[in-house]
Amino acid sequence: MIPEAVSNIRAQIGEGPSWDARKNVLYWVDITGGVVYAHTPNKPYDEVIKSVNDVSSVVPRKGGGLALTSQHAYFGLDLKSRDLSPLTASVEGEIETNRFNDGKCDAAGRYWAGTMDSLEKSPSGGLYVLEKGLRPKKVLSDVTISNGLGWSPDNTTMYYIDSPTRKVSAMDYSLKTGKVKNRRTIVDFSVSRQPGSPDGMSVDSEGMIWVAHWGGASLTRWNPSNGKLIGTMAVPAEQVASCCFGGRNLDELYITTASIRLDAKTLAAKPLNGALFMVKPGVRGLPTNEFDG
Ligand code: BGC
Ligand code: CA
Repeated sequence: MIPEAVSNIRAQIGEGPSWDARKNVLYWVDITGGVVYAHTPNKPYDEVIKSVNDVSSVVPRKGGGLALTSQHAYFGLDLKSRDLSPLTASVEGEIETNRFNDGKCDAAGRYWAGTMDSLEKSPSGGLYVLEKGLRPKKVLSDVTISNGLGWSPDNTTMYYIDSPTRKVSAMDYSLKTGKVKNRRTIVDFSVSRQPGSPDGMSVDSEGMIWVAHWGGASLTRWNPSNGKLIGTMAVPAEQVASCCFGGRNLDELYITTASIRLDAKTLAAKPLNGALFMVKPGVRGLPTNEFDG
């Protein structure tokens, strides 16, 4: 099973995919390229929805339109006027070199998003959660590259990745309060000798987790309850950044990748770096949650 490139775009850092079940469209972003795209299945030309500096995640909004993270703040995006309006002030205050990275909503409509050091060196980032009517709350600190978010189908466990640690962690999670506790490692790429570092992730309807390998040209599927590797899928791009289930039946897995910082030789050998891919993995995913705020 080989994922196929489904759009004409070659992104610098393709990220933040989310599925809009009302419109049957996949939103995704190019972070450093600064673009929000909409991909309609079976159409090779993705629509540019909006240019936004360092846009790192995008989600459908319950009341209509989209919500997104850009630089250090959350924004709303009106799909008719294409106007961007801030939902929050900057979350990172004085740390100019940080920016938002991966973000996703939980089943209660809270928007979780983490930050990272743009130089990818210091643990100056954090994980935030934005709840209707409230200010963003910092939930985790000392993060270097905040990535991979997901929840178990029963919403009792939240998954999280700080990429340079090469670990996927799990936390006890309360859907009612949005509180997390008891962070522990469930997959360690160093111990299991996996290529690259764990980046974005997605949870399927069987509760298994799919992890994107940045620098590892693959996706892996794991059983989070025992940390066992179930399977590996090669992706024809070096830097696999994230994945998200979509399609009318949630049986299509969309995969975003990055071309940034690859040398000319690698780019020539793998011309699909930066493409959006799709594969039907034989298992359905969980729906993308909308932002309720
Ligand atoms: C970030 C990239 C980073 C990569 C490393 C991505 O999520 O957007 O800037 O290089 O993670 O894992
Ligand atoms: Ca990512």
